[in-house]
Amino acid sequence: MISVIDFKNSKKSGTPISIVTCYDYWSAKIINETGIDAVLVGDSAAMVMHGYKTTINATIEMMIYHVSAVKKGLTDKFLIADLPFLTHKKGNKFLMNSVDVLMKAGAHSVKIEGAGGNLKAIKSVVESGIPVMGHIGLTPQSFNQLGGYRVQGKDDKTAELLIEDAKLLEEAGCYSIVLELIPSALAKTITENISVPTIGIGAGQYTSGQVLVLQDLLGMNKDFKPKFLKFFMDGFNQIKTALDQYDHEVKQNVFPSDKESF
Ligand code: KIV
Repeated sequence: MISVIDFKNSKKSGTPISIVTCYDYWSAKIINETGIDAVLVGDSAAMVMHGYKTTINATIEMMIYHVSAVKKGLTDKFLIADLPFLTHKKGNKFLMNSVDVLMKAGAHSVKIEGAGGNLKAIKSVVESGIPVMGHIGLTPQSFNQLGGYRVQGKDDKTAELLIEDAKLLEEAGCYSIVLELIPSALAKTITENISVPTIGIGAGQYTSGQVLVLQDLLGMNKDFKPKFLKFFMDGFNQIKTALDQYDHEVKQNVFPSDKESF
């Protein structure tokens, strides 16, 4: 299993870090047998697993539930848990209690969205001995303020702000930083200007690693195909075909046959 030290070493050696989200036990068991370096129980669970439109609906209870399930199947991977919406804005006690329960559920690290006003909260978590992954660019918890899911840092002024944010997160003690939905040239500049690794999603090829939502890369949502996403399998249609086949065989009295009977 990799640790925060390996994150730093990967950047130094130029070996990209692969991360995937996961929310449940059986997917965790599959990921556990792959070469993937780390797993993120993202607050995207609210959308992917619970059908909400944004991550704002993720709660600490939801995150504990998913982290616990993933942990049971994931014996051999570094596990990062998202701090859900406003967790770090409800006072230090609430923040620390939330981090506490996520770590006790099996996380090795937490991820906190945004820089600016969150630096004090990030520092206090880091100073408590808990590794924090930062997250800038398109920060889905600020979806309403950003005016939707759009590429960030497209002009010089906002690009400068993101470079500054990345430096502040490094100073605050983040061991790595997710860069979401920003131009690849900007992701390259950020990566070159900080010493901790950057993990991209929709941020091109010059980051220190990549993260994708599991269901997205498996093609489970056939209607979600943004430019940055590659389907590594046609999950929706392959699963649908299998289910249709099962339905057909049941109705044709083909399944179960003698082979599947006692
Ligand atoms: O919640 C999530 O899945 C994330 C990734 C998109 C980085 O934060």
